[in-house]
Amino acid sequence: MSTVTSPGSTNLGQTYLNFIGGSWQPAQSGQTFPNYNPATGELLGHFPLSGEAEANAAVAAAKAAFEKWRLVPAPKRGEILFRVGELMKQYKEDLARTMTMEMGKVLKETRGDVQEGIDMAYYMGGEGRRLFGYSVPVELSNKSGVAMRDPVGVVACITPWNFPIAIPTWKMFPALVAGNTIVIKPASDTPHSALRLVEILHEAGIPEGVVNIVFGPGGTVGEALIHHPDVAVVSFTGSTESGRHVAIEGAKTLKRVSLEMGGKNAVIVLDDADLNLAVEGILWSAYGTTGQRCTACSRVIVHKAVRKQLLDLLVPRIEALRLGDGLDESVDVGPVINASQLEKIHSYTEIGKNEGATLLTGGSITNEGKLARGHFYRPTLFADVTPTMRLAQEEIFGPVLSVIEVGSFEEAIAVNNDTPFGLSSAIYTQDNNRVQRAMRDITTGILYVNSGTTGAEIQFPFGGTRGTGNGHREAGLAGLDVFTEWKVVYTDYSGKLQKAQIDQ
Ligand code: UN1
Repeated sequence: MSTVTSPGSTNLGQTYLNFIGGSWQPAQSGQTFPNYNPATGELLGHFPLSGEAEANAAVAAAKAAFEKWRLVPAPKRGEILFRVGELMKQYKEDLARTMTMEMGKVLKETRGDVQEGIDMAYYMGGEGRRLFGYSVPVELSNKSGVAMRDPVGVVACITPWNFPIAIPTWKMFPALVAGNTIVIKPASDTPHSALRLVEILHEAGIPEGVVNIVFGPGGTVGEALIHHPDVAVVSFTGSTESGRHVAIEGAKTLKRVSLEMGGKNAVIVLDDADLNLAVEGILWSAYGTTGQRCTACSRVIVHKAVRKQLLDLLVPRIEALRLGDGLDESVDVGPVINASQLEKIHSYTEIGKNEGATLLTGGSITNEGKLARGHFYRPTLFADVTPTMRLAQEEIFGPVLSVIEVGSFEEAIAVNNDTPFGLSSAIYTQDNNRVQRAMRDITTGILYVNSGTTGAEIQFPFGGTRGTGNGHREAGLAGLDVFTEWKVVYTDYSGKLQKAQIDQ
């Protein structure tokens, strides 16, 4: 096995390294884990199998770097992020290919993933000259007050495999512009995309120790980070089960924990909807990214008057979707990330059948021809699903869509809101009054009108209600809140003791 000192773009079979305190290092044990292409089974590379020791070293490096980084003027921090955006733009195609190879989603989607990171770099680069605090009048004469944002300290970013570049940027860029330092532990299914992002930050001039990356399992590296007394913030995106664990463990050292977890997102199709438009939105948001988005549509809530028409339009379009390697531009749907996700997805087909839902298409693992060595699942559609079935309540995170019939607008809204999650919803209608009522009554964090459930833009807050999160938001202005502490400074220039609330 060869070891490289300066990791670069994909070079099959290469061994990559952690980046700690500005130097590339193997795991102390010398052990590695493999990274495979989920479409072909090909071995892509080896990454350090790190543990507590490497996590601790990275936290120590980040802690030391914090004292200098917090004093770098925010506009200068922002300029580095702007350069990161420029470099990402330059490398966009190559980054997208790296990501398709290790994650599986098709090239046009991995280009979109990188683009979301570029957008975030420019947005947070601009925040370097804003990071607005505020000043408001104070109640006493010859006194002023100003509220300003301070960085919090060392931020641990624990990131998922489905958006291997975009999601790390949602966490790292606002944290960095605000003056925090970072340890990132990316998902073990997509280590290379995150590594390339860190390389770009390095190339753009991020000082030593400000950004550190440690590869390895959640059970060792992740655990060390969430328990470490010098980690001030944990920003986590992943499963509800793991997120709950992060929150419980983080609470023991009173960490600030920001969680972004599951979804059970629905497209509502009312009796006055443009059905052809709805079909496009459903296909894209249910089967794009092979259904592996937290915003993916996994329920269609359709008015009974248009149910048959909708299904007649939908089924042939689902059956026409082309499965394959995402590097092939003619492919619509890539593989599922790994064998255990494939099994989990298939188990929901069995659950759905046992619950009495009607399987209209798909419902099987496929390994025909070129698909033989990858993890492929046929785009699946169930009808006659009722709102309380497991199929309609639990996150599947795969290309499985359930159609639920309702008799009214009110019932559609109630069914939409009644799951343990609250991320994204969509409604297709031509009636503005219904749009306004949906805006008022839908209880998810995101609502699309006449568009599918995916496609959030980074200048708005991203996140959801109920089991989707814990009240925080990523991206947009709200994305700074997790990574900053408010500090209020009162200055009394009266030269005498003035007592607020008393000397009015
Ligand atoms: C996710 O699925 O974790 O809105 C993020 C969207 C993308 C982000 C999804 N911009 O679908």
